[in-house]
Amino acid sequence: MTARINPSILSADFVNFERDFQSIASADLIHVDVMDGHFVPNITMGPPIIKMIRKCTKLLFDVHLMISPVEKYIKDFANAGSDIITIHPEATDNLKRAIKSIKSSGKKAGVSLNPKTPISAVMDVINEIDLILIMSVNPGFAGQSFMNEVLLKVKELRKLINERKLKIDISIDGGINFETAPLAVKAGVNILVSGTTIFAGGSLKENIFKLKNCA
Ligand code: DX5
Ligand code: ZN
Repeated sequence: MTARINPSILSADFVNFERDFQSIASADLIHVDVMDGHFVPNITMGPPIIKMIRKCTKLLFDVHLMISPVEKYIKDFANAGSDIITIHPEATDNLKRAIKSIKSSGKKAGVSLNPKTPISAVMDVINEIDLILIMSVNPGFAGQSFMNEVLLKVKELRKLINERKLKIDISIDGGINFETAPLAVKAGVNILVSGTTIFAGGSLKENIFKLKNCA
């Protein structure tokens, strides 16, 4: 199985988004990390910035919300031009209602599982979601090392999704490089999020190509 490549713009040049978006045009979608300094110890961007950078590319925006409480901001992120909105179960007291709010905005819905969050956290909404984002680092920062132990969770999830014939993408986020990407794909991932590896330097197009073909 070849995975789709999803560059995390957390590692892009924030004053040259337009140029960087052109350089990653061969990617399959774009991962936008939203952090609030409360759910995670870092702050990034909100709906106004997403709305502006939305104009720089036609690729789908996969918006990863690391904010809590998440529910009251879902409509704003939907209106800003998100295509997929992914939330953490720990960021809401009613995951079902939050997912419903994403879907009623006409967007695809994802649930993200931190390294320590079990698959059971998503089971209540498994029939309503489009994507599960497996965190392979503790969320908050780019450039952390891949946590191998999450591969077991990916394998279990792939088995469950296949057995139930669900149409859910399994994405992985954190520490993805040319060594860890093949491990993740072998375990059952079909979308690879990558910041540091893609934006590390050299040709971003080449980095995307290499990542797609090493897995
Ligand atoms: C971490 C973010 C990631 C991060 C990935 O909290 O959710 O998307 O940007 O960065 P790398 O690929 O550098 O681990
Ligand atoms: Zn992310």
